[in-house]
Amino acid sequence: MSWFPERQQRTWLHKLCAGILKTGPVPKHVAFIMDGNRRFAVKQSIDRAEGHLKGFDKLAETLDWCLDLGICEVTVYAFSIENFKRSKEEVQCLMEIARQKFARLMQEKEMIEKHGVCVRVLGNLSLLPLDVQQLIADVVNYSKHNDKAILNVCFAYTAQDDMSNAMKELALGVKAGDIRDSDISETLLEQCLYTSHSRPVDLLIRTSGEVRLSDFLLWESAYSCLVFVKVLWPEFSVWHLYGTILLYQRNHAQIQVARQNSDIERERLQRESDHKLVLEELAQTGPEHKVPGDSITLQEGVQKYADARRQRTDSFLESLNARRNEFLERLQPVQA
Ligand code: FPP
Ligand code: MG
Repeated sequence: MSWFPERQQRTWLHKLCAGILKTGPVPKHVAFIMDGNRRFAVKQSIDRAEGHLKGFDKLAETLDWCLDLGICEVTVYAFSIENFKRSKEEVQCLMEIARQKFARLMQEKEMIEKHGVCVRVLGNLSLLPLDVQQLIADVVNYSKHNDKAILNVCFAYTAQDDMSNAMKELALGVKAGDIRDSDISETLLEQCLYTSHSRPVDLLIRTSGEVRLSDFLLWESAYSCLVFVKVLWPEFSVWHLYGTILLYQRNHAQIQVARQNSDIERERLQRESDHKLVLEELAQTGPEHKVPGDSITLQEGVQKYADARRQRTDSFLESLNARRNEFLERLQPVQA
């Protein structure tokens, strides 16, 4: 199946419900743990591979429902690093689906352009077979300038792996003298994660009745509305999606307040840290180093320090992003 299946005729009830939902706050970023493909295969007496393919078809259909509602960013858990522990046959089967589907996406360039979709693949790509890495690089490089809709495919991903890689990058940055250890903050660590270019995750949905996050978006879901639905992923319907959005809308105000409070607290902590560091610096240099008449206030000193810190962290992040982009650019092109 295509990534852009022929749109089914919407019933009047369907249109009415979508219209009503759109009068309320619609989540901008929705994440899915697409769980239950193998149980679906057992239930339907079909091959496991067929179950995963049905899972892909459901993903394509769900992306269309999301576009229709005005959800502009979707993140899906397509392959966890933990999934490498599955049987060799199943891992090969999932890699084969990835090969086919990423190659197919490159054949659907017109649709990518029509919808302005930017596809990002988030994860430790070096764990994947080289040809899969190259196919991914093709799609990501091709679509990176689009910004109407964003699809993040988490592939060879776990949140703990992402966070520990981010920490390694920070440690290397400190060691190289690009940043100071005192520059490390929640905000800076967050900017080193694979999702650093994404909006906050508003709604996270897991199908199949399991009520765990299974190492998916652990950092990003701190202030998300979490919804666990009992249905297996290939059975997920537009009505399940609408139900989760309704739940999001009922909890929207509290979520916004919690998120705003967290942002305010982060800013306060940063200001406090800058202030403390400037006082420490002044204490070290001592009054004898002060030029007479040089009367910059403590407030100005803190401002100067914050500007220099921002400059350090911005150039550190710029070079981190450049290295990540170069990794993908070097992987192209795929041999026909
Ligand atoms: C979880 O169900 C599903 C997966 C591990 C694979 C999901 C992959 C797809 C839907 C295909 C997407 C492909 C691309 C390239 C985007 P499960 O296998 O854990 O099933 P179970 O919970 O019933 O055991
Ligand atoms: Mg599962």
